[in-house]
Amino acid sequence: MAACQQPYSQGKALYESACGSCHMTDGTGLAGLIPPLSGSDLIRTRPDLLPCIIQNGMEGKLLVNGQEYDQVMAPVTGINAVEMANILNYIQSEWGDPGLFYSPDRIQQILSTCGSGPVNLGNTGAE
Ligand code: HEC
Repeated sequence: MAACQQPYSQGKALYESACGSCHMTDGTGLAGLIPPLSGSDLIRTRPDLLPCIIQNGMEGKLLVNGQEYDQVMAPVTGINAVEMANILNYIQSEWGDPGLFYSPDRIQQILSTCGSGPVNLGNTGAE
């Protein structure tokens, strides 16, 4: 933990630089093009998908809060497990389920199951 004295503010800063240009600083996305993280049903119901989305990117149709998206998110590179945990804990505490917590170990464990290639939900969306 010595490496991250300020997990929340590091998560916020990393979110803003790595994700905010698309998903917007306030997490609302871009209508019809970039799905929101703020209030996204998917981030609450499928938390284990998030590390794979960041590592492998995402494509294909998906439903977020009843709206369909069909764009491509490129993999986000250069983020280690501690940084990814901080980003995702920030996202969950701001816009998802504040009770969800990712440890760097959990991130690493999930990342080992992602396989290769972008996440594609094939329009099944979040249950
Ligand atoms: C270049 C633009 C871009 C960047 C940068 C980006 N995303 Fe995405 N993201 C997208 C698009 C576009 C989709 C929808 C992909 C599709 O339609 O299949 C998406 C989908 C998602 C989803 C699933 C849908 C939802 O809204 O719940 C999550 C979660 C997500 N991104 C998180 C992140 C995180 C976290 C970062 C930063 C580490 C990030 N994204 C960076 C464009 C981006």
